[in-house]
Amino acid sequence: MILVTGGTGYIGAQVVLQLLGHGQTVVILDNLCNSSRTSLERIARLGGRRARFVLGDVRNRAQLDALFADFPITAVIHCAGLKAVGESVREPLRYYDSNVGGSITLCQAMAAAGVFTLIFSSSATVYGDSPRMPIDERCATGLPTNPYGFSKLMAENVMTSLAASDARWSVGLLRYFNPIGAHDSGELGEAPAQIPNNLLPYLLQVASGQRDVLHVYGNDYATVDGTGVRDYVHVMDLAEGHWLALQALMGGSGVQVWNLGTGQGYSVLQVVDAFTRTCGVSVPLVFEPRRAGDVAQCWADPDKARRELGWQARRTLDDMLRDAWRWECRLAAQHRPILYTPLLQGFWRDGLLRCVAHTAAIGFTTPRSAATARWQGCRSPSSTPGTAPGRTAATPSPWPRWSPCRSPHRRTAPRPPVV
Ligand code: NAD
Ligand code: WQD
Repeated sequence: MILVTGGTGYIGAQVVLQLLGHGQTVVILDNLCNSSRTSLERIARLGGRRARFVLGDVRNRAQLDALFADFPITAVIHCAGLKAVGESVREPLRYYDSNVGGSITLCQAMAAAGVFTLIFSSSATVYGDSPRMPIDERCATGLPTNPYGFSKLMAENVMTSLAASDARWSVGLLRYFNPIGAHDSGELGEAPAQIPNNLLPYLLQVASGQRDVLHVYGNDYATVDGTGVRDYVHVMDLAEGHWLALQALMGGSGVQVWNLGTGQGYSVLQVVDAFTRTCGVSVPLVFEPRRAGDVAQCWADPDKARRELGWQARRTLDDMLRDAWRWECRLAAQHRPILYTPLLQGFWRDGLLRCVAHTAAIGFTTPRSAATARWQGCRSPSSTPGTAPGRTAATPSPWPRWSPCRSPHRRTAPRPPVV
């Protein structure tokens, strides 16, 4: 049985599905701080089987000991952690506590239970601002630009030291580049609880009308069109990498590092263009100054994973965008008509006080049908891939651009926190 920490989260859920697909039994440990039990239902539906679930925290040693005592766990895939870069700047201790402290406690509990096979969700962020491109695993780890990045590097160092101290450990550090996309059924993907920091979730919310405009951070980088270049990798490809890494680690010893990326970089504008072309939805954008801490470009040399694991990303950028949009439309169709009544939309986006002020300003006349129609414009995943849910590049929105955020009480357009 495999323990997947953070298994109800965006990446963990895809990993669980992958393991179930290979006949493994899985137990998930998650404290649900950034996910919900809905993932379990989705996993069961797609995987045809249920994963066991334990509500708990990787920092809780007693809970971990009970978990290892209760289930015949042979290996751990450690996805649990906090991941919002901006939040990590504001609340560094929480990040070190969860990402470093949680990893240490997990390793202690594993050792006590005699389980020594571990895969860790690491990040390309540990390379910092690499002078070498593409980045291979021999590139030095750099100076991360935020506490989140440091916490991933520190957790890597903990595991590396541990494996050096005891040959029973077999550890895989998987350095993800930029995971995006969703399950190709459109049934499982990322559901950000807060204003997204990352490009794709923000873009999707602009495309579906939840946000007005995509802020593009920097158009003066030395890249193909001045915007930042990243290596976007489909989350299903990423999940397959975990399965292959697990097999490579079983019975082995020491630490192995593998980059999981495609080896191909795309600029922000190339992503936006590909999205419009593939999904048929235009994305209004505005250029902003560079975001603090951003690097100009970052893409992987994934050859080590290809040689040693037989892993290669198979899905294209168009696949990633199409699957992500299908998921976004599914989410929108299922939840938004209820959640996005004017009162609640104000609540979700601006907080209760703003909402009350706004409601007072506009009264209770509710253009509910307009809001609902806008969401219903996102067609279900059964619509042909590539057809245009919502607004198309050629056709302006048929729905009124109603938004409570345009009340006199909002002076600035909604902006993600600048990191
Ligand atoms: P996510 O937030 O969707 O999933 C993380 C899960 O961990 C959530 O379900 C959350 O509830 C759970 N969790 C958090 N702290 C916990 C704790 N102390 N105990 C138990 N459960 C806890 O994030 P994700 O995108 O799926 O990322 C998974 C891992 O991959 C993280 O470690 C992240 O740092 C790493 N990573 C993510 C990206 C990315 O772009 N998404 C890139 C590189 C690395
Ligand atoms: C990609 C590009 C932005 C949002 C971060 C973390 C990293 C990893 C993945 C995981 C950049 C631009 C973005 C927006 C924009 N985290 N952008 N407008 O910065 O490569 O990596 O997420 O756990 O550790 O640092 O990804 O998606 O934020 O940005 O113009 O609203 O898109 O400037 O060039 P990044 P990203």
